[in-house]
Amino acid sequence: MSAAPTTPEQLAVRAPIGLLAELTHRCPLQCPYCSNPLALERAGAELPTDVWLDVLEQAGRLGVLQLHLSGGEPTLRRDLEEIVALAAKVGLYTNLVTAGVLLTRERLERLASLGLDHVQVSIQDADATSADRIAHYANGHARKLQVARWVGALKLPLTINAPVHRQNIDNLPAIIDLAVGLGAHRLEVAHVQYYGWALANRQALMPTRRQVLDSAELLDRARERLKGVLLIDFVVPDYYARRPKPCMGGWGRGSINITPSGKALPCHAAETIPELAFDNVRSSRLADIWFHSPAFQRFRGTAWMPEPCRSCEFRAVDWGGCRCQALAFAGEAGVTDPACAKSALHEAFRQAAEHEAGEPARQFVFRNPRSAAHL
Ligand code: SF4
Ligand code: FES
Repeated sequence: MSAAPTTPEQLAVRAPIGLLAELTHRCPLQCPYCSNPLALERAGAELPTDVWLDVLEQAGRLGVLQLHLSGGEPTLRRDLEEIVALAAKVGLYTNLVTAGVLLTRERLERLASLGLDHVQVSIQDADATSADRIAHYANGHARKLQVARWVGALKLPLTINAPVHRQNIDNLPAIIDLAVGLGAHRLEVAHVQYYGWALANRQALMPTRRQVLDSAELLDRARERLKGVLLIDFVVPDYYARRPKPCMGGWGRGSINITPSGKALPCHAAETIPELAFDNVRSSRLADIWFHSPAFQRFRGTAWMPEPCRSCEFRAVDWGGCRCQALAFAGEAGVTDPACAKSALHEAFRQAAEHEAGEPARQFVFRNPRSAAHL
């Protein structure tokens, strides 16, 4: 199979801008909103160093610009230094997405000296007791703050990533203050998206409509107030929206995810779609997968769309929303995302959210292989 695009539709497809390398599913934290699949991949199945290095070389040649080193917890990989050095050599802008709790200052310095460009540290709350409860990890919050300060001391750009939900959203003002105090360049306030572990914990995480509206207003004011100090990105929860998010910027349009064992996915939850089979970077070239593989073609562009998307003015804006959300709620990945007001299921979707948010929160199912066995 040739790597070069040939058909008109393939010719219109550009190389992915971003590659998310899920180096491992191992993680010391057990956040109940994790988007990793319930069936976590074992350490023994992880790609060896030479395969990752080859994939990154291919990514550089293909024209990928940004590499997100993620997991699980990417710092659990002993070969992270080799991976960062190669990524820098082939011209990838490298972002380490980390929980931070395992990093030492020495290792961070080493990674910076090898060409690491950016660090993203996740926090679970501004309050240490609450944050450690959500992550199910003692003293994790304090360690994260320390790592965030080291990032600043090394003059690396810092993003604080704060997933928000019904159990921490009322602390948003303190989360913003914390990001400013840490010298972050960017704060990503991301309402939890319900895939993987988050879907299993949806009732315990779903905010009320009031909480969502209040958070949106608060962030608008903070953005204005902090112009030039802190860039604030906001990922909205589309359970209460009228239009869906353009998930992944459109299927197979801008990014590619590689799982720890090497499966190439158009999004992190794509494996939940039973009709799709995914090529593996152990046996297929990245360019072949991106331009030619059936999984990347299946929902690319607009030709696959049913009504009402097919004739909708927004079809090339939101690309029909999220395929995995359509599957999770409607039972079919190829229908209109129920987050869209034009979907016949939209009202039921909204009501499900309001009902769950109105009930007392259930206990978290923490992300670990033991819990997975009982789901
Ligand atoms: Fe987007 Fe489809 Fe809804 Fe139109 S009908 S807004 S394309 S999800
Ligand atoms: Fe799969 Fe949105 S998470 S398309």
